[in-house]
Amino acid sequence: MSRINEDTVREIRERSDIVEVISSYMPLRRSGANYQGLCPFHQEKSPSFNVNAPRQIFHCFGCGTGGNVFTFVMRMEGLTFPEAVKRLGEKAGITVEETPVTPADRQRRDQRERLLRINEAACAFYHRLLLEDAAGAPGRRYLRQRGYEADMVREFRLGFAPDQWEALVGHLASQGFAKEEMRTAGLVREGSGGRGDRDLFHSRLLFPILDPEGRVVAFGGRVLDDGTPKYLNSPETPVYHKGRTLYGLYQGRDAIRHARAVLVVEGYFDLLALHRAGVANAVAACGTALTADHARLLKRYAEQAILVFDADKAGRQATFRAMDALLPEGMAVSAVALAAGEDPDSFLAGQGTEAFQARLADARPALELYLDEQLALHGDSVEGRARAGEEVLTRIRRLPSDLERNLYLKKLAVRTGLDEALLQSKGGGVVSSRPAPRPPSGQAPRSEPDAAVRTQTFLLRLMLANDRARSQVKSEGTQVLFASPAHREVADYLLAVEYTDGKLPEQLLDGLPDVETQSLLSGLLLAEGQEEWAADPERIFSDCRQAVAAGTGRQRLRKLQELVREAEHAGDSAAVEKYLRELAVVKKNL
Ligand code: UTP
Ligand code: MN
Repeated sequence: MSRINEDTVREIRERSDIVEVISSYMPLRRSGANYQGLCPFHQEKSPSFNVNAPRQIFHCFGCGTGGNVFTFVMRMEGLTFPEAVKRLGEKAGITVEETPVTPADRQRRDQRERLLRINEAACAFYHRLLLEDAAGAPGRRYLRQRGYEADMVREFRLGFAPDQWEALVGHLASQGFAKEEMRTAGLVREGSGGRGDRDLFHSRLLFPILDPEGRVVAFGGRVLDDGTPKYLNSPETPVYHKGRTLYGLYQGRDAIRHARAVLVVEGYFDLLALHRAGVANAVAACGTALTADHARLLKRYAEQAILVFDADKAGRQATFRAMDALLPEGMAVSAVALAAGEDPDSFLAGQGTEAFQARLADARPALELYLDEQLALHGDSVEGRARAGEEVLTRIRRLPSDLERNLYLKKLAVRTGLDEALLQSKGGGVVSSRPAPRPPSGQAPRSEPDAAVRTQTFLLRLMLANDRARSQVKSEGTQVLFASPAHREVADYLLAVEYTDGKLPEQLLDGLPDVETQSLLSGLLLAEGQEEWAADPERIFSDCRQAVAAGTGRQRLRKLQELVREAEHAGDSAAVEKYLRELAVVKKNL
């Protein structure tokens, strides 16, 4: 992929005033040096969301999210960094040319644009038929039977393909689209045996599938009777990749962001039924299993996924496959099982919204359900529990957060009767075997950070406030003082940036790699001036050193426990003795 030129990024940042940009999304009120408002990233009643114009940063003291103007737009719109740059570039009237643009790139882009135009034209055509044309009457009747009114038809731009072979072909041709393009868009099939091209969809209710920007990229079409296939979907095209598209994401994204949670359902009608019941934070995969790409897409909007599937075997399998896609991306995944043969649409129709909400409230962590399933599958013998344990361990190992891995390993030990320490050493509970992606940062009102983390935050503030602290940190080394990786990263960064006239550069946040470190620093910067905590700098330094030492100690403790077990196993009593002695010392120091 091509990347955006750094000068362009700088220019766009300079022309995009953060107060102005944020004001276009939400009301801000001036308060002293800052602007304040209700945080859009978590629910709150009194404003803890701050915007600082001189530094061009924002920070919410309620949920800890912070960053610069790009970070804000990324989070609000669920965009990647280059997408956010482009979006702000458009507003500022700066065209972002991704360099280099080869002729092949340009050709691809033009083709994509044409395909989007065709899909849009088809959507408008089918939509009008369903809303008002005589040929759309069967579709209207069907929807009425299932209880859907015109407002839903409009919101989801539903359509109807009539009982004809060339309705769309004729319409698109009259709009000037070429046969070749219609075929590439998958809406038209090449005729055979001397016949002309034919429409893909006949006598079907159509669900246009939108990309996250709201552009039509494909359709799913349902028969009105018992015909087969029940649903016919557009084929994959250069603008439609099933594994990266989620039905309902565009219509639900605000609700998903607000709830920080997304319901994942199976069908088009399930999604409509949820919206009709006022539950808008939902998506449906378009007739495929959930992929890692889906998970990454959802991760931009939510940190929690609730899978709602039918309780039969296929439904359970789909649930665990979805879990396997979502967990490694750091989403919290829980699941609700409905009775076999039931889906959200039929459940809502039969039992109503309140009963459904009650089910949601009872959602259980998917990994726990998986453990139940594995235990039931392999039986209660020692071997059975070991097998079940292994299966679950493979999943636990993929969790990106140490904390969660630990928690699940504990549960697994209790449920299987397997030795916890053994599971910990196998499951990466202590030392992760791969660099963990950052845990979801900041949208939920956070639990209070523990004392060690607070002290490290104090030390960062000290570094911001005075040179002496900075040089002391430099000479002792950040790895000696910072136990928290994010804090260490920010400290290293503060040591590396150039100070002009003893002052920090204004656009300080830009060099930090991710939302977590940016949020950390934006919080420090906006809390500047509240220096009462800094009474005893030496104390801060020594507390920080201790936190690191304690962390190393705990690690050594676990290692020693493991060594003792191994030595016992090998019958090496001298070694057992030796490790136990060291263990006692380490324990005492802790
Ligand atoms: P279902 O068969 O459960 O249908 O398929 P549904 O969504 O509940 O629809 P209604 O309520 O009977 O009208 C679930 C999803 O699987 C995909 C579709 O996305 C569908 O919504 N599917 C199903 C297909 O892609 N093709 C099919 O032939 C069937
Ligand atoms: Mn259904």
